[in-house]
Amino acid sequence: EDPLCEAEQQPKLIVISNRVAAVDSKQPKTGGLAAALEPIVARLGAVWLGSSGEVSDDDAATVQLVPCGEGHVSRLDLPSAHYPGFYRGFANSTLWPAFHSLPDRISGSPQHYDSYREINDFMARAAFNLRDRDAFWVHDYHFLPLADRLHRVGIDRPIGFFLHTPWPAPDTIERVPNHRELMKSMLEYDLLGFQTNRDVNNFLAGLRSHLGLESKDGIVISERGRTRCQKFPIGIDPNQFAEYAAESLANQEEYISSVQKKLGGAKLAIGVDRLDYSKGIENRIKAFNQVFAAEPRSISLLQIAIPSRSEIEEYREYKRNVDSLVSQVNAEHGTDEWSPILYENDAFTQAQLAGLYRAARVCVVTPLQDGMNLVAKEYVAAQDPNDPGVLVLSKFAGAAEDFNDDEALLVDPNRPDEITAAISRAANMPCEERIQRWRPMKDKLEAYTVHDWAADFVRELDKSRITAPADHFRH
Ligand code: F6P
Repeated sequence: EDPLCEAEQQPKLIVISNRVAAVDSKQPKTGGLAAALEPIVARLGAVWLGSSGEVSDDDAATVQLVPCGEGHVSRLDLPSAHYPGFYRGFANSTLWPAFHSLPDRISGSPQHYDSYREINDFMARAAFNLRDRDAFWVHDYHFLPLADRLHRVGIDRPIGFFLHTPWPAPDTIERVPNHRELMKSMLEYDLLGFQTNRDVNNFLAGLRSHLGLESKDGIVISERGRTRCQKFPIGIDPNQFAEYAAESLANQEEYISSVQKKLGGAKLAIGVDRLDYSKGIENRIKAFNQVFAAEPRSISLLQIAIPSRSEIEEYREYKRNVDSLVSQVNAEHGTDEWSPILYENDAFTQAQLAGLYRAARVCVVTPLQDGMNLVAKEYVAAQDPNDPGVLVLSKFAGAAEDFNDDEALLVDPNRPDEITAAISRAANMPCEERIQRWRPMKDKLEAYTVHDWAADFVRELDKSRITAPADHFRH
């Protein structure tokens, strides 16, 4: 049964995020958010507003709709005066490192915060053109204060927000300039969705520490009204991935056999990440270096590392560091018959990835912190039920709240020695144990898909149309 039900029964939604679906939907997707939302918008008949990635001097916020399945997308050119301060600045140099609990990487200036507010105002003006829709669903850290701006332009529909990244502990959020103002503005949302219990608890603890606000059963009452804070762990479409995997092995025989040639009989491990310092790629490569030293030619790593946010110097530096680490390791261990690390800097389509996941005995997902990490879920979905591979998973990825230690091999991503031991255990694991660990993960993916996730969120948001009394807060 389709959890998204009949389109007529659903509230007509506006979805807002910075990144939207690519113009050509067959293009490779380089981030979890756009890949997850595209089928949702397409099936719900929603209107999706976001950035085109281009800038303009015209700040008129005109909306032009392009079809996307049953729905529409509007890719807006954001105002040139504020886009860099918003995207490169406050969103990705201040909030991103803070939300990934890497406070030493936080940088920024007061002008970045001004630009962040300006772009939120711009998006609210654009959304005002669509005020007749039933509800608004805003995504990610680029738009924390958007509900406040939407209310100011006169929109009075339910507004929900989902954070794709982690939310950090109170003493880390304190390092973000204007954190009180931002958190207060988040209480303008009717519904705040997070990936994990840890994120919900961190947010509620932050409200207590920084705004002196108490919550009960995830509900916070502010001057505006009631905000429900809840976990909605994002999923994937596992059947679609399993289909891709079966088809794609056949469709890219040539590439896969070229990979196999370089393995020289070694098993294949795979890592797929945007080149982002939160992804823990350096420690992973150090861990493989140890495996190569102890068991040469037993396993190779196919590391797909997609350049990301390269307008930010820290990201360029990270790429240089990873590139040079890969070269060092290959120079130390590689032979004519065996490439220890196959390093790809291009994005692959989901269908291509599915085939590669299925060909890999091990998948290594070792972010220092991650909202959910859909690579972990996609890898599980793509496996052959009779000969599945093993997932090595960071304890600090949201996915580790879904997959436990009897299923994935959970590791501390800060400790290359732990990753080394897990890789070698995974590579040598007997088939029976692999099946035992994989089956429950696959069942969980089927029990809560990305469509269930969206349907749950929309249902909960729709409930906030009826304003409930705040009686249980009056002690
Ligand atoms: O999941 C976090 C996120 O920022 C998403 O919004 C996006 O899909 C992905 O990372 C890629 O980042 P960017 O849109 O900056 O390329």
